[in-house]
Amino acid sequence: MTKPSILLTGSRGQLGLTLAHYWSASDLAKKFELLHYDIDEMDLTSTSAVNQELNRVMPHTIVNTAAYTAVDQAEAERDAAFAVNEHAVANLADWAAAHDCRIVHVSTDFVFDGRQDSPYGPEDIAAPLSIYGASKLAGEQQLAARLPDNHVIVRTSWLYSEYGKNFVKTMLRLMQQQEELGVVADQIGSPTSTHTLAAFLLSLLNHKSKPGIYHWTDGASISWYEFAVAIQREYVNQGMLNRKVMINPITTAEYPTAATRPAYSVLDRNKALVEFQLEESSWQEELGQVVTRIKQGFVKST
Ligand SMILES: NC(=O)c1ccc[n+]([C@@H]2O[C@H](COP(=O)([O-])OP(=O)(O)OC[C@H]3O[C@@H](n4cnc5c(N)ncnc54)[C@H](OP(=O)(O)O)[C@@H]3O)[C@@H](O)[C@H]2O)c1
Repeated sequence: MTKPSILLTGSRGQLGLTLAHYWSASDLAKKFELLHYDIDEMDLTSTSAVNQELNRVMPHTIVNTAAYTAVDQAEAERDAAFAVNEHAVANLADWAAAHDCRIVHVSTDFVFDGRQDSPYGPEDIAAPLSIYGASKLAGEQQLAARLPDNHVIVRTSWLYSEYGKNFVKTMLRLMQQQEELGVVADQIGSPTSTHTLAAFLLSLLNHKSKPGIYHWTDGASISWYEFAVAIQREYVNQGMLNRKVMINPITTAEYPTAATRPAYSVLDRNKALVEFQLEESSWQEELGQVVTRIKQGFVKST
């Protein structure tokens, strides 16, 4: 008999690739088959094609890591952002509701406006400042309304890994090219390795948790500037940079972007730690491990 399947969207994104990396060694692999989908296999904005494919494979669970993630570009491409982040989620939720399928969906700290000065809990009021944040919140709301008993939303922040484009990799490039860098010091958040997030998603998939929202980060409360300083330290310590560049703290006003970002978006991950009895991860250790993986990747590709 064939195993029931878990359908992963966004399988070529940085989170999707990380999840797939851990799949075969996880207990879940014994019970379920993981089906990998990205935009080339199934464009989530094409409702009829999506429904046709879902009807064909009949997944037991959908893990939706796919998203329109170009935060600044979204300000000029509202419809494109909402098509993926809201309407496609609504369609997945309708299909799931009709077929007893669970959805584990990934969302963002950018649903918050950053006016709070203590970590945001899952029940705190969301009030996005950007089109991207609004589109992701709309997706959460569609999912909760259409699939009330069979969904989980995991909000995360400042995601990075050895895959794709992210702040940790951008810093390496800039630190290799420039003598000096200005990095925003008045936005506070929590960097999150896709590796700890993937592990949390696997825990979620292993348990039939109550529907609702969880927050997952690596527990820091730091600025982009402080993160850049820590990143440089790791690159130097692991021999990827042979000199230190000057990193200067700058303000958000000195680094204008199309999208407004929350000044404070630290997420409180306590509910996730307690319910799933997980150890607290250390953001410094997670950063060190991703830098090691980036180094191994460079060695392999040269
Ligand atoms: N990155 C962060 O800092 C961050 C922070 C908080 C939350 N999140 C959330 O975490 C999740 C994973 O993020 P990530 O960094 O792994 O994102 P990512 O690397 O940008 O991956 C997203 C994937 O979704 C695919 N995709 C886009 N439009 C699609 C469509 N119409 N149909 C099917 N697939 C489509 C993308 O394909 P293309 O590359 O071809 O467009 C990409 O492979 C997302 O839900 C994101 O909103 C991310």
